[in-house]
Amino acid sequence: MEEVLHVDERQQPGSRTSDRESVHERVLALGVKNLAVSYDRFLVIDGLDLQVERGEVVAVLGPSGCGKTTLLKAILGLVNYTGEVFLNSDRVGYMPQRDTLFEWMNCIDNVSLPLRLNGMNRQEARSVSMEYLKKVRLEDWAYSWVYELSGGMRQRVSLARALVTGAKILLMDEPFSSVDAQTRRSLQLLFSELVAMENITVLLVTHSVEEAVFLADRIVLLSQRPARVRRIFDVELKKPRTIEVLDEPIYQKLVSRIYQEIFSTPS
Ligand SMILES: Nc1ncnc2c1ncn2[C@@H]1O[C@H](COP(=O)(O)OP(=O)(O)OP(=O)(O)O)[C@@H](O)[C@H]1O
Ligand SMILES: [Mg+2]
Repeated sequence: MEEVLHVDERQQPGSRTSDRESVHERVLALGVKNLAVSYDRFLVIDGLDLQVERGEVVAVLGPSGCGKTTLLKAILGLVNYTGEVFLNSDRVGYMPQRDTLFEWMNCIDNVSLPLRLNGMNRQEARSVSMEYLKKVRLEDWAYSWVYELSGGMRQRVSLARALVTGAKILLMDEPFSSVDAQTRRSLQLLFSELVAMENITVLLVTHSVEEAVFLADRIVLLSQRPARVRRIFDVELKKPRTIEVLDEPIYQKLVSRIYQEIFSTPS
């Protein structure tokens, strides 16, 4: 498969060029090699290889139950695995599939939590958290209770909390799937602007082909469980993504090509 790039190939200067690669240094931010995960001898991931370069947004698509959440958990060391996991930073943000905000705290204290757990005092933690609430445009809601927020606002608080420790690698598990279509699109636009501005590396699990193409630089399509990489697609669209992307032939053709791949052969 021509789209699959192996670590060795990606690390050779000049081995492969594109407009996207020429604008940033190609440094591996996150990688897994020959990853395998079992639950009670039940194989969920089997020999999975994946590399994400610094500043890249890589989307992971695959059927429900194939092992996408498990892949993120293995990268975070939350489940046992065999194979190799490489993270080029000790500051990794995680947005789990279900938001884990505390209802009985206000927004700013929810965002502050990772800093407080690292020993920062309350005042300083709140001041750093306010900067991140500004980035997700929720500074006016800093002292509101979480239960007063809409679903999309909760996701923005979760995003601020995932980034507040200065994380440059972000693992996201279907972060925009629990909100209506219009809110989802505005979250995607905010996300795309933010990660491009802050040069954050993202591994994004999603069920949506359209979302993957709209947001990612590359898309990794996984097989049915046990998950393996079935195919990798490059997305040659400018970042940050804007609403005009929806009109671009590259966007439309790629969405259609991925659906054709998904439905072409049994996986
Ligand atoms: N802690 C666990 N113990 C046993 N089995 C588990 C555990 N967590 C997940 N599984 C099983 O492993 C498989 C993969 O689960 P996982 O949550 O990784 O899938 P997924 O691709 O994220 O699915 P979805 O798209 O529905 O979120 C499923 O069959 C699930 O039932
Ligand atoms: Mg999942």
